[in-house]
Amino acid sequence: MCGIFGLITKEKDLPVARLIREGLERLEYRGYDSAGIAMVNKGHIEVRKKAGRIADINKDGWLDSTPGTFGVAHTRWATHGKPVYNNAHPHVDCTGKIALVHNGIIENYQDLRKELAMRGHAFQSDTDTEVFPHLIEEFMGKGFDLKDSVMEAVKRCKGAYGIVVIHADNPDYMVVARKESPLVIGIIPGKTTFCASDIPAFLPLTREAIVLDDNEIAVLRPGEVEIYRVKSGERIQNNHFQVNYSIDAAQKVLDGKAYKWFMHKELHEVPRKIRDQMSMTQDRLDSFAQAILDADHVFITAAGTAFYAALAGKFQMTRFGGPYIQAILCSEFIDAVPEMKPNSLVIAVSQSGETADTIEAVRYAREKFGAKICSIVNVVGSSLTRYSDEVIITTAGPEIAVASQKAYCTQITAMSLVALRIAELSHKYDPAQIEAFRKALLDTADVIDHLIIEEGKIREIGLKIAHADNIYFLARGLGQAASLEGALKLKEIAYIHTEAYAAGESKHGPIALIEEGFPIVFVAIPDQTYDRLIGNIMEMKSRGGMIISVVADYDSKVTEISDYTIRIPIANSPEAIAMAAVPFAFVLQTMAYFIADSKGLDPDKPRNLAKSVTVK
Ligand code: AGP
Repeated sequence: MCGIFGLITKEKDLPVARLIREGLERLEYRGYDSAGIAMVNKGHIEVRKKAGRIADINKDGWLDSTPGTFGVAHTRWATHGKPVYNNAHPHVDCTGKIALVHNGIIENYQDLRKELAMRGHAFQSDTDTEVFPHLIEEFMGKGFDLKDSVMEAVKRCKGAYGIVVIHADNPDYMVVARKESPLVIGIIPGKTTFCASDIPAFLPLTREAIVLDDNEIAVLRPGEVEIYRVKSGERIQNNHFQVNYSIDAAQKVLDGKAYKWFMHKELHEVPRKIRDQMSMTQDRLDSFAQAILDADHVFITAAGTAFYAALAGKFQMTRFGGPYIQAILCSEFIDAVPEMKPNSLVIAVSQSGETADTIEAVRYAREKFGAKICSIVNVVGSSLTRYSDEVIITTAGPEIAVASQKAYCTQITAMSLVALRIAELSHKYDPAQIEAFRKALLDTADVIDHLIIEEGKIREIGLKIAHADNIYFLARGLGQAASLEGALKLKEIAYIHTEAYAAGESKHGPIALIEEGFPIVFVAIPDQTYDRLIGNIMEMKSRGGMIISVVADYDSKVTEISDYTIRIPIANSPEAIAMAAVPFAFVLQTMAYFIADSKGLDPDKPRNLAKSVTVK
């Protein structure tokens, strides 16, 4: 949660503070309730910070004009302490010579704080972070240099951290360290070094990157990086790699077209991302699918949107010959699964690969019960990939809008491919049939291309419910993943209270709320659930509900009984219907986007949310 961006350079005349602020703005999706910068300036530390969003704080170029030669900045998503000046990062020690930014949570901060306060340290904030600069100050007082002091300080801290530290008397280096919170390094060899919470933040400046691993610490000099293991102090080699993301990933531009919001741009990327996912290597699919078939007990876990993708994925994998898969929210995993039998496997789905609840669930399953972990992750090198035996990387690329959308679409596409590989390996379908399903899955990209061309129609229907206070989303079977996702998107970005129910469940209580004009969105995939869903629509309609249905283009029965329909141009074939989960969800994501925009809300940075939730 929280974004970090730092820069140190040899190049004269670079607008360092402005470049740091711009890098930080590319990380604002990670948190946006306060921000600040610290620069080393002629033997002292200059700190500027405030509550609010970066653009407001930087009005009149206040952050950009911070004097100094190098520095670090932070944008916060509050955990410990309200979003006020004192709690904003960077934090400094008692001497004001050390400044530090932090992403993560220090679990033993209360004990450390008491201990440090007893030794005379004065704390300015309510944060867990502030123990860091004071600990570093103490080790420096004992004669350790900055790097070794940071190394000793992190050994005292329990929990998760990505930190960057600068010192007023060290004019040519900064120190970074990480454990369970992301931190990546960008480098222009011999000239400039960057550190950030994710790669897109420095993408407009360099494509050469180094991922810092857990329990590693690095000394960053201009265009040079030295990495050390925290435990042994041993120096290790840097693994540089070239980032192949498009530069557009960090900008609101696609195919030369400028967008108002990242979310809109990212929705428009979905067809190409599905096509990219379809071309993933057979080897990856083989070992992932085989691991599922070889396991005796299979679980799937995730949070939020990733969990809804997991529900669609589980449905597909079981349907195409895989085992029954038990889906459990990652935040419930430890309590819901007190025991795991031998030869269990957990599939974890995550965009960021950093969600604390997901990491906790997989570590619990792996470390306590020896379960195998297979992950579907969007971020290369993220924590989840390190705790996994098998990894499929989704091809969504950087997703900047806080509300996940293209990641969801590629997650389902990836799991549908695994399902089809399961079908092949288990010989439950003949090869021609499997090929037809695979073609139908690829065709979903064309279907979504059409939906994008005609997105004005989705907007029109969205505007009919934009001012509703409550909306139900109902579906059956595979459609439920889309319905849950559509309901979550409206909550997240348009602040409308929604509930998604299994349609069959709606008569067991939720129906009590229905009165004239109550909007209900039905996801009507024309599969084996279709006729039963019509019964549920009629129950709502006869009580005055306003029926908005998402239907296949060729639909007539649900159309007749609906007030409005959003039509999905899928082929009238069993294969196209079986693979329709993504287009049916895509229109609901798009509708939520248009509703948020029409209400003048910021769909990229919804209130109270952050892109990756690294707290439990
Ligand atoms: C998505 O729109 C949400 N903001 C959120 O539910 C998200 O999907 C969830 O926090 C899981 O994140 P992850 O995919 O990075 O693990």
